Amino acid sequence: MRQGQIAWWQSGVVYQIYPRSFRDSNGDGTGDLVGVREKIEYLSETLGVDAMWLSPFYPSPMADFGYDVADYTGVDPLFGTLADIDALIAAAHERGIAVIIDFVPNHSSDQHPWFRASRSSRADPKRDWYVWRDPKQDGSPPNNWLANFGGSAWQWDDATGQYYLHSFLPEQPDLNWRNPELKAAMFDTLRFWLDRGVDGFRIDVAHAIMKDPDLRDNPPNPDAGHGLHKSLGAYDAQLHIHDKGHPDVHGVYREVRALLDAYSAERPRVAIGEIHIFDWAEWARYYGAALDEMHLPFNFGLLGVHWSAQTVRRVVDGLEAALPAGAWPNYVLGNHDEPRIASRIGRDNAPLAMMLLLTLRGTPTIYYGDELGMRDVPIPPEREQDPWGKRVPGLGLGRDPERTPMQWDTSSHAGFCAPDVEPWLPVSDDAARVNVAVELADPGSMLALTRRLLALRRATPALAHGGYRPIDEAPADCFVYLRESDGQRVLIALNFAADERVLALPSLGHGAVVVSTRPERGGRISLDNFSLQGGEGCVIVLED
Ligand code: GLC
Repeated sequence: MRQGQIAWWQSGVVYQIYPRSFRDSNGDGTGDLVGVREKIEYLSETLGVDAMWLSPFYPSPMADFGYDVADYTGVDPLFGTLADIDALIAAAHERGIAVIIDFVPNHSSDQHPWFRASRSSRADPKRDWYVWRDPKQDGSPPNNWLANFGGSAWQWDDATGQYYLHSFLPEQPDLNWRNPELKAAMFDTLRFWLDRGVDGFRIDVAHAIMKDPDLRDNPPNPDAGHGLHKSLGAYDAQLHIHDKGHPDVHGVYREVRALLDAYSAERPRVAIGEIHIFDWAEWARYYGAALDEMHLPFNFGLLGVHWSAQTVRRVVDGLEAALPAGAWPNYVLGNHDEPRIASRIGRDNAPLAMMLLLTLRGTPTIYYGDELGMRDVPIPPEREQDPWGKRVPGLGLGRDPERTPMQWDTSSHAGFCAPDVEPWLPVSDDAARVNVAVELADPGSMLALTRRLLALRRATPALAHGGYRPIDEAPADCFVYLRESDGQRVLIALNFAADERVLALPSLGHGAVVVSTRPERGGRISLDNFSLQGGEGCVIVLED
């Protein structure tokens, strides 16, 4: 999986699969691992991606749909068996697709045997594997920390008369990474999966595992509501400086990286961190001072960006400026926690966004269904599933809309599951038009564009791993940049305006439009005077 000095996780494209929602093979309305394997050729042949990231499939009570893990080395019967994951890894590897799995280190399920033991008695050997504290004198929680999913981060436990910490649901108690035995047990789980052949981990809320050892109160946030791209309610009222991102976190990831490196002789294994830190300098620290931590700390800068050429360029240039020397960038337009891109910016703009994602310098991650232009699906209240939406109502935080079944074809339930079963979340009412089968037959579809871009990226070193240079002379509504490698120059011109814009870039000479968001476009053009239609994007291979 190597191309010269460029590793697969650099030149490749990652595709995120939410296993519950990809393909149900056994008629229970929930997707599963055999379902993913049934669709492996969609990934390898139809799309041509290089890696899949599977959201959690571990045994779980599903309080947070698998992000509450009750056994780090098993498979929930809902998703299949260990034999099924082995078969999926083998099938993926046969086709040159790497398998990245979700690792959830910050918390387990409250049903994990470790937590059951820990809560059984103050004297239990696993007591310290979680974070237990006495109440304050008035009986209230030890500090003011808040759970991401609403309310205090502390849950009172009557049996042993202490509070335990949970940064998310009470059913997700935080693990204590300062306890060496817990840490060793977690490293054993990583080894378990590396030995089974996985190519890497996406590390859930990676920045959260180390907290202030003195558990100091978080200070108030003077700028509440202006930090993130979405309001998180009461959670925004604090600056989360003590409950996450403690500098000791970096020592842990240096060790994780050393473990991955020790497994990398045959092929590199990769660490991708979910890092919700929006200060570039602080975020960049997760690469490690000697590039010895995360290969890719997820860059979420485009998730909430206002959709304009200038603001998008600012994110890209901000990232490029923040990257430590030799660090590799990455981009994400969506995931299982965020409204879908086609809903955020409108379906008409989604093709331009896909062209951006697949032509920037750095590893792109595509969220399943975004290649079709799938949109958020309104969920009737009686079918709401996500605990976040239920516990913090009224802010639109529920994540069900972006987790609906993948739309495969025009059959019932869009081919996600058998006709006589109800899928776990409703299928979009646009599924008769927006699906793989229909879009494969339409050269003007989002899927057709995505396939052209993926094929081009694969065949074009300048796109896969070349340099990035923004072009300042472009009209204000256009984001135009060069990708360059070994004398090959590829120009990407994206018109964010709703109407025509003309590029006048005579110094760039002539080129050939190799992909456009308008499929009828092609051929040799002059950059002297090149007109882009409203919302149009073009990839142009420049002449020498
Ligand atoms: C991460 C996951 C999210 C989950 C949370 C708690 O943010 O992406 O889905 O709910 O962590 O594990």
